[in-house]
Amino acid sequence: MSQYTRKTFDEVMIQNYVPADFIPVKGKGCKVWDQQGRDYIDFTSGIAVNALGHCPDEIVDVLKKQGETLWHSSNWFTSEPTLELASKLVEHTFAERVMFANSGGEANEAALKLARRYAVDNYGYQKDTIISFKKSFHGRTLFTVSVGGQAKYSDGFGPKPAGIVHLPFNDLDAVKAMIDDHTCAVIVEPIQGESGIIPATKEFLQGLRRLCDENNALLIFDEVQTGVGRTGYLYAYESYDVVPDILTSSKALANGFPISAMLTTTKIAASFKPGVHGTTFGGNPLACAVGAKVIETIANPAFLENVQKTSALFISELNKLNEKYHLFNEVRGQGLLIGGGIN
Ligand SMILES: Cc1ncc(COP(=O)(O)O)c(C=O)c1O
Repeated sequence: MSQYTRKTFDEVMIQNYVPADFIPVKGKGCKVWDQQGRDYIDFTSGIAVNALGHCPDEIVDVLKKQGETLWHSSNWFTSEPTLELASKLVEHTFAERVMFANSGGEANEAALKLARRYAVDNYGYQKDTIISFKKSFHGRTLFTVSVGGQAKYSDGFGPKPAGIVHLPFNDLDAVKAMIDDHTCAVIVEPIQGESGIIPATKEFLQGLRRLCDENNALLIFDEVQTGVGRTGYLYAYESYDVVPDILTSSKALANGFPISAMLTTTKIAASFKPGVHGTTFGGNPLACAVGAKVIETIANPAFLENVQKTSALFISELNKLNEKYHLFNEVRGQGLLIGGGIN
């Protein structure tokens, strides 16, 4: 038994989290075990991260092999796993170019910076407004908490970055009234995650695409939570028949090994010239080797079909429970990103 207990957390850790009373020490599949050997079914999945469960054998093999080969070489070099994962993402999505980072917030930070820089490079007037949506969540950097639509995460850290507006989600008229030549980007989660699994309507996302095109603004999809198979599609944009200009991905991308990616087109990517943006760890061989195996597994149509089948089973069983016990006012979401209003 380790000398470290939950009490140690209160003694040595900054108290910005309030973890459970037990400490998981081992995980396999959907289960974790605590220090006392008690097992739990892990319904948290690492907050939409452990899409393939804990320690899946085939991913552990890749991790071990890469761990014995090359972990980190810096972005002064590229690596074979980096190129493999980027090639797979390009093969399976709209994207022509990829940049890696380490967290969802960082990928969104990169996306927002890219949108601003693209406007500077391509338009000869002030074009820097970012439209975002109320209750959205895009990360914890100062730029991303400010763009996110929940003031509780950004208050107290001011002055906040300027040029950001928050509109009601799924309200296309509000966007129509606000968007203009000075808008450089609209950022949206296809399904708002942190605010309680609120899916965008198809009309809303398709309308955003049209309005962005009419106003030369970039459409950014934050697929940090909706991406990598969670909705039964590799990325949720596929199910909406809307192609974004920039897409961010993280969470399940390496099944728990920290990584994120920003996907875009060649034209837009051109604004990130050498030195304009970067990260020490982003795209390191270890994370990318794991990510490449995850994408190979999840992009398989049979895998995605199974997510959709499992989703249908979940939703029908939840609805049956609801008929009996009247627990939720609705069951909503897509694939295995399911939520519901509690009665
Ligand atoms: C939609 C969305 N964007 C961004 C983030 C931030 O990701 P990270 O915590 O890895 O920075 C999250 C995290 O929950 C998220 O759900």
